[in-house]
Amino acid sequence: MCGIIGYIGKQKDINIGISALRKLEYRGYDSAGLAVFNSDQKEILCLKKAGRIDNLEKEVLCSNLALQGNTSLFHTRWATHGGVTDGNAHPHFDCKKNIYLVHNGIIENYRELKDSLEKEGHVFTSQTDTEVASHLIEKFFKGNLENAVREALKHIKGAYALAVMAKEDPNKLVAARLSSPLVIGISETDGYMVASDATALVSYAKKIINLDDNEIAVMSPSDFFILKEKQPEILETKSEDIQKGGYPHFMLKEIMEEPEAIENSIKGRLIPEEGLARLGGLQNVTEELRKMKRLLLVACGTASYATLVGRYMLEEYAGIAVEADIGSEFRYRKPVIDEGTAMLCVSQSGETADTLAALKEMKRKGMLTLGVVNAVGSSITRETTAGIYNHIGPEIGVGATKSFISQLTIMALLTLFLGRQRNLSLIKGQRIAQDIQGLPDKVRAVLATQNAKVKEIAEKYAHFNNFIFLGRKYNYPIAMEGALKLKEIAYPTHAEGYAAGEMKHGPIALADENCPFIIIAPVDSVYEKVISNMQEVKARKAPIIAITTEGNEAIKELADDVIYIPKTSEMLTPILTTAPLHLLAYHMGVLKGCDVDKPRNLAKSVTVE
Ligand code: F6R
Repeated sequence: MCGIIGYIGKQKDINIGISALRKLEYRGYDSAGLAVFNSDQKEILCLKKAGRIDNLEKEVLCSNLALQGNTSLFHTRWATHGGVTDGNAHPHFDCKKNIYLVHNGIIENYRELKDSLEKEGHVFTSQTDTEVASHLIEKFFKGNLENAVREALKHIKGAYALAVMAKEDPNKLVAARLSSPLVIGISETDGYMVASDATALVSYAKKIINLDDNEIAVMSPSDFFILKEKQPEILETKSEDIQKGGYPHFMLKEIMEEPEAIENSIKGRLIPEEGLARLGGLQNVTEELRKMKRLLLVACGTASYATLVGRYMLEEYAGIAVEADIGSEFRYRKPVIDEGTAMLCVSQSGETADTLAALKEMKRKGMLTLGVVNAVGSSITRETTAGIYNHIGPEIGVGATKSFISQLTIMALLTLFLGRQRNLSLIKGQRIAQDIQGLPDKVRAVLATQNAKVKEIAEKYAHFNNFIFLGRKYNYPIAMEGALKLKEIAYPTHAEGYAAGEMKHGPIALADENCPFIIIAPVDSVYEKVISNMQEVKARKAPIIAITTEGNEAIKELADDVIYIPKTSEMLTPILTTAPLHLLAYHMGVLKGCDVDKPRNLAKSVTVE
């Protein structure tokens, strides 16, 4: 999604803002722009370009504009209203070219605002919703920028993170947010940088302030204030977290970090000898959780597959009634809730608009709301009563990889935690805890021993256009994850994930030599059933790639290619079967020449509905 950078400090070089903007590239975008206040010329100079930041940089080098100044704005746009053109890129400005701003989010009432501003004589130069904000601020501007912004925001409906400057109120940057993240970075030696994602601030600031909804921050090179007093937090992201560290792509680096992600997610949280999970983030709600009868799991995309696996785990080992739904549907449902119902949102970014909206609605109804989130200080963490952090550092590749593995791990920890509050025995708890502890080494082994085989499979099958992924019970959601990752990363390949038992109700019509089937078949309680489905596919001559447990040689009679995973308890097999599927999507994406870290049309954190 769009990325915002605003800078105000002692330096005049715009590269400080451009390099911060580059750190937001991973979020996905289709155009970029900048505006800088040149104090000698007393003008704001602006350049905007469709395409990558490289295009913008080329334009900067060719331009004869004096693009230097200590107050500047930068933006990457992901088109919503209006096509991908130079004119629709941000920053946007008013009629007098006094106000310049960058915006993330959607101004829902932009049509009526635009109509009335046009009637008042304002002339628009773009098709965007954002431009109304610059004209609205112009309307209220009487020399003081923050007052004009405050007045304008009273008329805007929707979601926004905004950074604004005005040539007639220089040496000032104003930032505001509602339902779209915005963070202020405080430099120890320079000034301030505002960003839509703290990742962009790592080279500039050690301390950050997360703006809350309806807050307005006003910054000068040496000072800042927010309408409400807030204490700065320590920025935990390190520079090395957002570098490729020798890997050709972030996606491969993050897949290879999956074992470490599990380690970080379980660190200090397991007491294997007591068969317990210690989840500090749930401490304040322990008693409410003991009484909980029903849990609603809500998430989007890959994270929603983690909730589906969680449903199997929690029902089987914690004996809790669980419902799992995607945020975009749940937000419009009218779920039947009672005192014993709680909600758990799962989100890497903590900013996904649909998940957040569902959460706010349930909170309004008085439900206990919990989160499993990676991004510290994000909106979902601040809206929920309690939660569990993934602790896996930033995930830069747009496709979720290590975050998914971590979400599955946390589902297992939660199952242990809630199960042991209920009927799960000490012995079973001990076994689950030991198996969780053994996961990092097992995933490490899968990545080390199977990567070459998976690459070979990718090369053999890359020319096929359609793939079907099948799995049962715990691995049914993993079939959907494998398919989502393949179509997302190796486009335009088409892939679908199905519950293996559903195959005979439709998708089997596709089974022939042109449609490979990827069948997840660890030796578990449903293994024989999956083998029957595999027979049905084989009978129709479809190529089969199987993922199964080490030592299972018999499967080679049915499968053309086999990927092996180590033995673990059934509920944890998804963590081992996922890793080769992530590798498969990666290798196939690379073979097809796709931008695997930034797949087309996609954004890392989906902050619009
Ligand atoms: C797919 C992917 C997305 C996200 C989804 C939710 O690889 O990354 O499907 O999982 O957009 O994002 P979060 O977890 O940030 O809520």
